[in-house]
Amino acid sequence: MLDGNILITGGAGFIGSYLVDRLLDNTEGDYQQVHVLDNLSTGSIDHVHRWNDNQRFQFFRLDLVSDAIDELAGNDYSTVFHLAANPDVRSSSINPKLHLEQNVLATFNILEYARKHDISMFVFTSSSTVYGEPGVIPTPEDTPLNPISMYGATKAACEAMVCSYANMYGFKAVIYRLANVIGARSTHGVIYDFMRKLTANGSVLEILGNGRQRKSYIHVSDCIEAMLTGLNGNGRVGIFNVGSDDYIEVIEIADIVAKAINLHNVRYVFTDGNGDGRGWRGDVRVMLLDTGRLKALGWRARYSSREAVEETVRGMITERLQERV
Ligand SMILES: NC(=O)c1ccc[n+]([C@@H]2O[C@H](COP(=O)([O-])OP(=O)(O)OC[C@H]3O[C@@H](n4cnc5c(N)ncnc54)[C@H](O)[C@@H]3O)[C@@H](O)[C@H]2O)c1
Repeated sequence: MLDGNILITGGAGFIGSYLVDRLLDNTEGDYQQVHVLDNLSTGSIDHVHRWNDNQRFQFFRLDLVSDAIDELAGNDYSTVFHLAANPDVRSSSINPKLHLEQNVLATFNILEYARKHDISMFVFTSSSTVYGEPGVIPTPEDTPLNPISMYGATKAACEAMVCSYANMYGFKAVIYRLANVIGARSTHGVIYDFMRKLTANGSVLEILGNGRQRKSYIHVSDCIEAMLTGLNGNGRVGIFNVGSDDYIEVIEIADIVAKAINLHNVRYVFTDGNGDGRGWRGDVRVMLLDTGRLKALGWRARYSSREAVEETVRGMITERLQERV
């Protein structure tokens, strides 16, 4: 399905860098160049460092909001994977305008690039947060979008733009609504947060909300395979949920992290000031996605939520040990 040259925005980030690895580690497919555009705001050049000397790889430090990106035109991309975004749901209630710019405006700018330079496929990473708190669990893709965070709202707005551009300008679009994606290179999210806090203070752990939030966590390796599988779907615009088949409570995650770093008797302190269980404004308390559409194309998550958490914690500990050597 993939051919020509590929551009990955946000390719130095957590998920993007695993996508780069997957595409350059495998020689199957007819694509040639894999280029990354990233402003390194949350991403790291270290994530793609191993590809520096590879003839098929190039890195462009550019900002999708403030930089002109037409300089990339000579590269004649056939597919754009657009992952660059501000992925922090919590901060979207504190600075909504920042999310409007970094998600909606950034997506508009790369869509304009896609229109002017005649790409054939546009892939967008949306989020389970577009559903808000749906009545149906597991939630299928045809559920109405009712986001309860500005982050979710910007993702829904981006989806609408992607869909309209694909129809107006005649390219294929694939939209992935991702559950919580986790893996060793995570730089945000609950596991990263717990690891950071417990390494600093092993006796007390602050848990945002009442710890009873139940959400689906998917290992990044399963997410990447899902993102390649969905490209094979039919139709002008494909929309796919990506998640594991079960969920896990935040308290169980805290237990797994504490155990993995040999901490016992950690005291949990909850921030559930409003008494509604949420960790922050716009926190969705229960999330589990129906992934039947992707399964019909042959994809399956290898890890359950618990296994994905355990694998991620192991991976983070290994990466930290390697950094110290
Ligand atoms: N990680 C998750 O659990 C999750 C869940 C749902 C959706 N998503 C979406 O998946 C995508 C990747 O998320 P991630 O977890 O890898 O986050 P990340 O922060 O690691 O990656 C985002 C990358 O985009 C870059 N970036 C941000 N703004 C940019 C701009 N204006 N111009 C150029 N580069 C910019 C950052 O430097 C970073 O490398 C995002 O669109 C995110 O919203 C992630």
